[in-house]
Parts: sequence; C-alpha cells; structure tokens
Amino acid sequence: MTLKLLFVASECAPFVKTGGLADVVGALGPVLGGLGVECRVVLPLYRQIAHLGRDAAVVLDAGSQFGGPVRVLAKRAAGIDLLLIDAPHLYDRPGQIYLNEAGVDWADNHLRFGLLSRLGADIGRKGVAGWQPDVVHAHDWQAGLTPVYLGQADEAAPPCVLTIHNIAFQGNFPATTMGVLGLDPAGFTQDGFEYFGQISFLKGGLMQADQITTVSPTYARELMTPEFGMGLEGVLVARKADLSGILNGIDTTAWDPASDPALVQTYTSRTLARKVANKHALQEHFGLGADTSPPLFSVISRLSEQKGLDLALQALPAILDKGARFVLLGSGAPELEHGFRELAGRYPGRVGVEIGFNEDLAHLMQAGADATLVPSRFEPCGLTQLCAMRYGTLPIVSVTGGLADTVIDANEAALAAGCATGFQFAPTTALRLGDALDRAMALYADRQAWQKVQRNAMKHPVGWDSSAARMARIYRTLART
Ligand code: ADP
Ligand code: GLC
Repeated sequence: MTLKLLFVASECAPFVKTGGLADVVGALGPVLGGLGVECRVVLPLYRQIAHLGRDAAVVLDAGSQFGGPVRVLAKRAAGIDLLLIDAPHLYDRPGQIYLNEAGVDWADNHLRFGLLSRLGADIGRKGVAGWQPDVVHAHDWQAGLTPVYLGQADEAAPPCVLTIHNIAFQGNFPATTMGVLGLDPAGFTQDGFEYFGQISFLKGGLMQADQITTVSPTYARELMTPEFGMGLEGVLVARKADLSGILNGIDTTAWDPASDPALVQTYTSRTLARKVANKHALQEHFGLGADTSPPLFSVISRLSEQKGLDLALQALPAILDKGARFVLLGSGAPELEHGFRELAGRYPGRVGVEIGFNEDLAHLMQAGADATLVPSRFEPCGLTQLCAMRYGTLPIVSVTGGLADTVIDANEAALAAGCATGFQFAPTTALRLGDALDRAMALYADRQAWQKVQRNAMKHPVGWDSSAARMARIYRTLART
C-alpha cells in the first residue's frame, strides 16, 4: 500500500541549498517513490526560489501567522512535489536563507522556522487539498518544533520522525519567544523544549518525535558522548531505543561521471583514462598550467570550524613543495577564506582558490581532481567523499562520523585484499593529515595501484537504495502503530 509522507525541511536540492541537507531532502523522496512511499516536501518560498511560486496552485490559505499573511502553494518541479510556504513577511528578502546581507543570522529566524515547523504540523494533522500524510518527517532544527506542535494539538496527529543532520545547529532562542511561537508553557521543562533557560527547537523535537534518525551509524554513537553531543548527549542517551544511524546516499543520477553535463569529458571505471581531460580543464580554470602529471588535490566545502580546513592550511605546504597542486571551492569563515587566498598567493600556478558557491564547478572538481580532502573535526555523514568516490577521486578523510563509515583506508591489508577506496587518518591533527597526504603522494606515484583504488571507489555503493529501504521500514512501522 502506498504510504504518504511529508518532509518538513528548510532546504531542498536542486532548488535551494547551503549544504548536504538539501541534497538529502531532494534525493531521498524520489527514491522512496520507488518503494511505495509518496513524498511531499514543505519548504519556505524564499526569494531565491520565487520563480517556483509563479504558476503554482494555492492549496491553503493559512490566514495571518507570525505577523503576516500565509498561504501554501503546490508545485511539482524536478520530480519533487513541493508545498511552498508563501509568507512574504518572512521569506521574501535579500541575503541568504539563514543569514542577512551582513552575514548574520536573521533576527527573526525563530519565526521563519517556527512557521515552517507549524505548517508542517498543521498539514500533518489536517492534510492539504485532500492529501493527508500518514507520517511526518522533520529535518534538523529548522523543523524541530514540528513534533512539538503535533504533540500540542487536541486532535489525533500522525507519527513523526526527526532527523539530525548536524547537532551543532540547535535553534536556541530566548524564552520570551514562547508566546509569539504559540508554544504551550507547560512544555517549558527539562522534559520538553526548555534548554538551559532557553527554547531549543532541536531539543523540543528530540523529546517529542516518535523516532529519531541521524545520518550515519558512527555519528549516532558519537551523539551520545559529551565530545560530539554538543550538550544534547543526555537527551540522546535517554532516547537511545528510538535512535538509529542510517547512512546518507547521494543522487547517483545527478552525480554520474558517465553523463554529468558539467564535465568536459564523461567517463566510467572502464574508461578512466578519459578522466584526465577534466583535470586539464580544471587546471585551466584555476590557471595551474597544462601539465597534468603532478597529483591534484581538492576541497569543496563550507569553510567552518567543523570541516578542519585550518589543518589543511598547515599540512598542504609540505606536499605543494614536493610538486602537488591544490584547488579549493568554498566560502564561510573570513579567516579561512583569507588563509586559502594567502596560500594561493604563496604558490602561484600551483594553488587555485575560488571563494563562493558554484554547483557546476563542484562537479568539474569532483571529476578533475585526483584526491579530495575532508579533514573534518566532526562529520555527521558527509556527501563530498561519496561524490568523490563515484568520480574515482580518492577521499582523504578523518575517522569520524560518516567519514569513518564510508571510506576504506588504503593500508597494507586493504591494498593486499584489493578493497581500499581512499585514505583515513586519526586523530584529527595537521600532523596525521600530513601523513595521509604523504601516503596519497606515494600511492599516486604507483599508477597501477592508484587506479585499482580508483576503480574500487567507483564501484563502492553510494546511492540511496539500502538506506531508503530502512527509512521506509521505519515509516511503515510507525504508520501501523
Ligand atoms: P555539509 O552539509 O556539512 O556542508 P556535506 O558533505 O554533507 O557537508 O554536503 C555538502 C554539499 O554541498 C555537497 O553536495 C557539496 O558538493 C556542496 N558544496 C559545499 N560547498 C560548496 C560550494 N562552495 N559550491 C558548490 N557546492 C558546494
Ligand atoms: C549536515 C552534515 C553533513 C551531512 C549533511 C546531510 O550538513 O554536516 O555531514 O552529510 O547534513 O545529512
């Protein structure tokens, strides 16, 4: 029987994206479709995606909420059924989706994502245009109040799953926002959404959701420790019986070296020799010359403390001095942007840096580089290492979260067994990253051994198939209870 599922999320690829959350929300729904789960996505109609609203049908007039008129529009685009929250007073503005033009969180983010959570719960309970979900699935803190609002209602509510994509972002706001958010003060307790005297969207959701998932098995375990739980470890220990770690996949159609339109030359594991045309184009893009023989390392990332890229800044000069090349695409923390620009200045013709967000260039980089660095201090799952493997670009990753669960280190045993897919290092220090870079340099010098690892990486399953089936089982179990 078809199960109806409502995703509540603040990002969805290919429409609006700041990171992996968007990729997951955009890719998982269509795969679930093949498993008899009909998924719709509630998403704010940000100015960035205003075009989606233009010819969309109005399916709900939600009256005045949080200071202005609110409607819900339905639109099918890129194979995804969207329910767009049209609330111009909250979403029709310049800047980025979470940050204003000065790069600071919007001061009314509690209202912007309170409304998302609220409408997720309302559509969950009452349905929209005759469509009533059997299960609601909220993603990250922005949808964290959805289970709380569902629990506050008098009428019966559908069961709710909450996924933690990154516990570093919790949505904590002053207790004084409780009234405007329409939260029942009875919930302002340790067992509810109260968190050190504040309101926490994520904690509220974690206390109230029927099931909690996170995006890798290792991160699920890490979340229950003070080192990674970011203050919420106690909550997760208390809810351990309802917590599962289910590995993310990537959209293997959008990320396919055999057909990717952003590449100058498509290829497969059988035609690996063609990959180099992309390396050539990438080096040209970054002004690194035409010699494709030295190894080319890459980073595609948000530039934040989480990603450990300060360690890359320390470790890279040693291999650059030995002739390696390096390219980076990313934006974020000003000191990291500055650090990488400075590195490019010190190594002209060997280091290329592009500060910004560029989807097509990200694809060309995955195809053109030889190896990619993901030296994260913590990484709930990580998608760039999965994309890299699919493109035969070897990931160099720290042993944490989903990075630990997805990459097989090219140590002696794995090389002998023929199953290595990349390089891992621990602990997450510049010294150990440097060792891993040296190992990558040495393996690169042995073309046959390198190509064997490339082929292993390209064969490694990185799609959604098995994880989507696990999610579907969770929904079906909940819908029956
Ligand atoms: P996170 O969600 O923590 O940022 P993930 O590895 O899960 O990390 O997902 C990051 C996603 O964002 C990947 O699809 C990656 O290709 C993409 N990405 C990150 N930075 C950029 C950028 N500057 N330009 C284009 N894509 C980017
Ligand atoms: C978060 C995490 C990342 C994960 C992504 C999608 O942004 O930082 O590790 O892959 O969500 O779940």
